[in-house]
Amino acid sequence: MERKRRTVPGVMRMKRKGSKIAMLTAYDYPTARLADEAGVDIILVGDTLAMVVLGYETTLPVTMDEMLCHVRAVSRARASALVVADMPFMSFQVSPSEAVKNAGRMIKEGGADAVKLEGGRCVASAVAAITNAKIPVMGHIGLTPQAIRRFGGYRVQGRSEEGRLGIVDDAAALEEAGCFSIVLEGIPWNLAEEITGKVGIPTIGIGAGPHCDGQVLVNHDILGLYEGHVPKFVRKYADLRPTILKAFSDYVHDVKSGEFPTIEESYDNAKDSKKDRDPEAGD
Ligand code: KIV
Repeated sequence: MERKRRTVPGVMRMKRKGSKIAMLTAYDYPTARLADEAGVDIILVGDTLAMVVLGYETTLPVTMDEMLCHVRAVSRARASALVVADMPFMSFQVSPSEAVKNAGRMIKEGGADAVKLEGGRCVASAVAAITNAKIPVMGHIGLTPQAIRRFGGYRVQGRSEEGRLGIVDDAAALEEAGCFSIVLEGIPWNLAEEITGKVGIPTIGIGAGPHCDGQVLVNHDILGLYEGHVPKFVRKYADLRPTILKAFSDYVHDVKSGEFPTIEESYDNAKDSKKDRDPEAGD
């Protein structure tokens, strides 16, 4: 059955109806096709691209141009999911006008439906400027990986009373600035529950417990493809790394031993060969 195309107002309605929102990252065409076909509501082209695809240690080095290349691939693949493009580090912090220009590139050149940017009260002016340009914005607060240098590492946020109040204020500021939803990352579950009850826009949790309006995970984590540290909130739905490693090793073995390719896996020059009728048979 053909699914209806997800829209920003549609995603906002899901909170009011109490339908949970399933968001997943994807960075390339085939994975985005699979996520869309599986019924994912929102595909996030996250800046985690830097770590899980490009091999950087943090998300900080990835550039607008690198992000755009992957946003385009995912937008081409999508049939019904909403595509959200992550704004990389320093693409929105310098000035609201630069933030609007870069968000505009994600929509115009990348084909995304919306952008996501990290930060609370400190990015409210950038969020307001982007939403004034009619570009939908998803916020992202709590453990924001672009701020790890300030946090001193990947640490759960909002455990102290002061930290807790700050995150509640961040959520209110983002809603006020015009965000259509907010990612809550790495915060205690009862803080996420409180924020979800207070704001009128959907919250999407990652390491923020079960009471958010939706959940997001990194696809390489749920597929067991990422070699680095996998946090406790990840549920692994497959363990593909050993499966792929075995397939690659078997291929190497077969080439080196001469077991691949066989004559059956090769073309011949017989005119009446069945292969001559195949489109790939040539002239
Ligand atoms: O970049 C990303 O993948 C993200 C999610 C983890 C929320 O921001």
